[in-house]
Amino acid sequence: MDNQSDAKQIDIKIGNRSASCPILEGNEGHCVLDIKKIAQELDIFTLDEGLRSTAFCKSKITFIDGEKGILLHRGYPIDQLVSKRNYTEICYLLMHGEIPDPEQTKSFNLNLKQHQYLAPQLEKLFLSMPDNTHPMTMLMSSTCALASCNRTSSTSPDLQLAAMELISNMPILAAMCYRRSVNKSFIAPNPELSYSENFLYMMFGDNPSYQANPTLTKAIDHIFTLHADHEQNASTATVRLAGSTGTNPYSSIAAGIAALAGPAHGGANEAALHMLEEIGSVEQIDTYLEKAKDSNDPFRLMGFGHRVYKNYDPRAKVMHKTCHDVLDTIGEADSNPLFKIASALEKIAAEDEYFVSRKLYPNIDFYSGITLNAIGIPTNMFTVIFALSRTVGWVSHLIEMNNDPDQGLIRPRQLYIGNTQRNDK
Ligand code: SDX
Repeated sequence: MDNQSDAKQIDIKIGNRSASCPILEGNEGHCVLDIKKIAQELDIFTLDEGLRSTAFCKSKITFIDGEKGILLHRGYPIDQLVSKRNYTEICYLLMHGEIPDPEQTKSFNLNLKQHQYLAPQLEKLFLSMPDNTHPMTMLMSSTCALASCNRTSSTSPDLQLAAMELISNMPILAAMCYRRSVNKSFIAPNPELSYSENFLYMMFGDNPSYQANPTLTKAIDHIFTLHADHEQNASTATVRLAGSTGTNPYSSIAAGIAALAGPAHGGANEAALHMLEEIGSVEQIDTYLEKAKDSNDPFRLMGFGHRVYKNYDPRAKVMHKTCHDVLDTIGEADSNPLFKIASALEKIAAEDEYFVSRKLYPNIDFYSGITLNAIGIPTNMFTVIFALSRTVGWVSHLIEMNNDPDQGLIRPRQLYIGNTQRNDK
């Protein structure tokens, strides 16, 4: 195992008490120290604020090597999957562990279409929300409401059913968020269209003869795939934690959407585009880089840096190419002002000691916003697209957790630093 001692355990002694903690090896990446015995034998907890170096479950779904910039889904590198497979094939792979054969693909897609239905009452929910409601707020509320329209058990096989309902209905909910935000009527899905074509149709198909540009359809399918899963990120960990209580899967996914909305996580794509617009020109980049480097200035380069990747996010590489292809299609490859600023900013940061020494590189969110904007998707919908894409990752982790006999209620402990016991006189 890379840079690991040959020891298979670590013995910890405190006074005359000791605990032997086994070192467990995975198939890729870091080993882990199983610390169960520390609390049992030594009566102390471990502290890892931000869970920066804590594995809180075992998983077979996704592997990330942050130092090498590697992302594998069920063992397959992300760049191979994006170039060879479409999003619904990736959904099958994440949920079932293998790339589907043509027959399996056909029946999986048919199964998704059979679940593509939303209760009419849900339309009233969207219409009842105030005009200025953020699309992410609409998505959280409507996802929770799915529980009233579908089976809500959190255990298989209902969990499998709920997973298919969520994957198939997310594009409908996402498109309804957009249509409600621009006060347009909703467009029902067209069963003749593919998953990604259907999403663009439900977004922009005011004219029944609407046909999405194939390059834009391919780009949105790539975006769905690039965002599908990412190990134990904050929103996936939230979904696992919520799901471990036995709540219904729709509520667990709504909890994940809530976590994703934050600008330190999935909300960064929307924040990155606003940042590029605020920078406004290549000439202004240096001013903003100084702000980003000033620890007294709250400004951060959105779409830059990552808790795990200390190398270039492999998804950002694919996204950069997809972005260029989309801009090329709409004739803006050399003229898009935001792409120019982003490309120049990336180049300058790559040669700046502050970013190099902290291993800060573009992440998935740096170019995704420019791409989505070029497809015609408004900025306030970017994280909704992220949530749509990530739903398959979230449900795959819920299913994996539900099948793991070692996994019970997730309930961390703490270091208490408050008042010692006192009496209310
Ligand atoms: C996603 O976890 C996942 O997998 C998430 C995700 C997924 O697919 O689920 O990949 C999706 O969330 C991508 C990340 C999107 N967020 C952003 O782009 C927001 C901007 N990035 C930063 O907020 C930050 O990089 C984080 C939150 C993403 C990660 O921060 P960490 O791991 O907590 O690192 P840190 O704050 O300890 O930073 C280390 C140093 C600090 O400086 P010093 O204290 O050493 O002087 O780097 C600096 C930070 O100030 N730093 C930045 C920076 N990110 C870190 N400085 C300027 N701009 C930045 N973006």
